[in-house]
This record gives sequence, structure tokens and C-alpha cells, in this order.
Amino acid sequence: MTRITLRRPDDWHLHLRDGAMLKAMAPETARHFARAIIMPNLVPPVVTGDQAAAYRERILAALPGDTAFRPLMTLYLTEATDPADVVRAHADGLVTAVKLYPAGATTNSASGVRDFDKVRPVLDAMAEAGVPLCVHGEVVTPEVDIFDREAVFIDRILDPLRRATPGLRVVMEHITTRDGADYAMSGGPDLGATITTHHLVINRNHILVGGIKPHYYCLPVAKREEHRRALVAAATGGSGAVFLGTDSAPHSDPNKESACGCAGCFTATNTLSILAEVFEREGALDRLEAFASLNGPAFYRLPANEERITLEKGAPVDYPAKIETGEGPVTVFDPGFPLHWRVV
Ligand code: DOR
Ligand code: ZN
Repeated sequence: MTRITLRRPDDWHLHLRDGAMLKAMAPETARHFARAIIMPNLVPPVVTGDQAAAYRERILAALPGDTAFRPLMTLYLTEATDPADVVRAHADGLVTAVKLYPAGATTNSASGVRDFDKVRPVLDAMAEAGVPLCVHGEVVTPEVDIFDREAVFIDRILDPLRRATPGLRVVMEHITTRDGADYAMSGGPDLGATITTHHLVINRNHILVGGIKPHYYCLPVAKREEHRRALVAAATGGSGAVFLGTDSAPHSDPNKESACGCAGCFTATNTLSILAEVFEREGALDRLEAFASLNGPAFYRLPANEERITLEKGAPVDYPAKIETGEGPVTVFDPGFPLHWRVV
């Protein structure tokens, strides 16, 4: 096969940032994707419906004039979130989902949740109104090894929380383990999971062997090869529970290449070429559309995109090594193998 046509994909987990960074990043996603779930971990975070509306306007203003790209906004769940504001913002069509960060789990998560009992009224209201909860699934307990934080979160937090809130629709964001994939795929229609492009490509050796590679560091951190294999099997295996959420998370090179480097891989620019390569290797190119364009809208109860895009296989694709932004250069994720599929 040298040509493949899909419904235009969506990105169900994306960081666009704000200001000069947003200006440079918005076109990178709008070029190939129709919609994206926009993460709210700005400084300060996007907490209220009014803030989401204002951020949405800033995103629209940063888009190239000829794009039909639509940002799908999220609210950042805090212990002070007002259930009525969430339900209203969702009913108005302004907000698509709510994002749960355990406080301290990742970039700009300090305003996240420490005591899960405090957000119970919001979660109950969301279950009632059908508002999806996007979950960063890692415990922050210092005693738990960073490579175990996802599996422990499922046992200690996620499973009890779902049992206590029947009907709550949950997306396990950026799963990185076999445990995460197994749990997501056996959780029934109210449970889904996103998988990033980079977690389909790298394992923890890529970060650490032969010198530390800051551009492969993200959270949740990539795990052992057997976990990467489980993610590839889940993404390419045809389960409707998993879908693409790139977690493309730009940080400037100085902030990545530092004694305390930021977490995040920036993949918006070359994601579709990488995914085609990964799916082709598995003999699963015919399942790329389900992963990138169909399963996400089905979970979010939105129509799939009518527009199509075509990828063509040929000589290695040139993509920029870095995107220049008003806040410094951002390095584009290097999968470590040549890419042959280009979006035409
Ligand atoms: O690697 C990550 N980067 N993981 C996250 O959860 C947050 C993100 C960011 O905002 O940079
Ligand atoms: Zn993220």
C-alpha cells in the first residue's frame, strides 16, 4: 500500500500554551487535525467557563485564516471548582471535558486535586450531566517509584473513584503501561484512554541509554519495552476504547535542555507520518483511521469528521528539526527512524 485516505483526524489531548508559544503552535496542529482537546494547564490554569471562553478566543486568533480547526476546551479541576459552572459551561457547548491533575503530578499541576473527597460533588454533577473527566493517572506519593505511578494510581485512586461515581465518563490520558491498556480496554463504554505518538515509539532506554535525552522526557515517563509493545498492540488492535491524544507539549529548548528539564515531547508537526510508520510495521494501516479519526469522536459522542486526508508513501519526509517561537526554539520529536508517509 502506498496511499491511504482517512477521515481527518482529531487530537484528543493537546497543549497549545498561550501568548507567543500559542501563536507558533496553533498552526502546527491545525495543518492536519480538525479538532483537539485543549489542555488547561496554563499559568494561571483555565478554571472557569469564562476563562475557557477567553482562552478559546485567543486560540482562534492564533490560527491561520484559512483553517477550519476547532479547539475543544477543558476546565482544570480544582478543589474549589463549582459544579454548577462546569455543568453550565458544558451545556452551553463551551467546554467539552474537565481535566483532573493530581496536585504535583506534572507541569503546572500545583492547583490540582490533593483530597479527592473535596471534588466529589463536581464528579457527581459531571456523571449526571455526562461531562467526561480526563485524568492524568499518576500518584504523587514520594514512596512510589516513578515507573510504578500509573499502575498504582489505577488501583488506589481510579478504580475506587469510578466505583464511587457510577456513570462518570472517564478518559485515562496518555496511558504508558500494559496495566493502563488492560484496564482501559476492559472498562466498558464509559471508559476510554488516549495514547500518545511518542509512547508508541520510545521506551525508557531511549531516554537514558548513551546519555540523557531531554527531548524524550515526558510525564508519564516512558516505561519498559514490554509496556510500549502493549500500547502498540492496543492502538493497532482495533479496540474502540483507545484513541489518539498526542499530548504534544512544547517547551523551549533552554527549558528542556536544563539541569531540571521540563517534561513534554513536541509531536504535533510529524505525528501523522510517525503513526503511519508504526501502524504499517504492525500490518495495521487499515486501523489507523479508527485510532486517529473514529474512536475519539465516538467516545466523546461527537460526529466523525467528514473531510478526508491522504497520506502517501515515498522518499523520506523532510520535517523541521525545530519550530521557532517567540519564546525560543522548540525541538520536534525525533522518532529515530526515517518517515516515509507524508500528508498530501
Ligand atoms: O510530559 C508532559 N508534559 N506531561 C504532562 O502531563 C504535562 C505536559 C506539559 O504541560 O508540558
Ligand atoms: Zn498533557
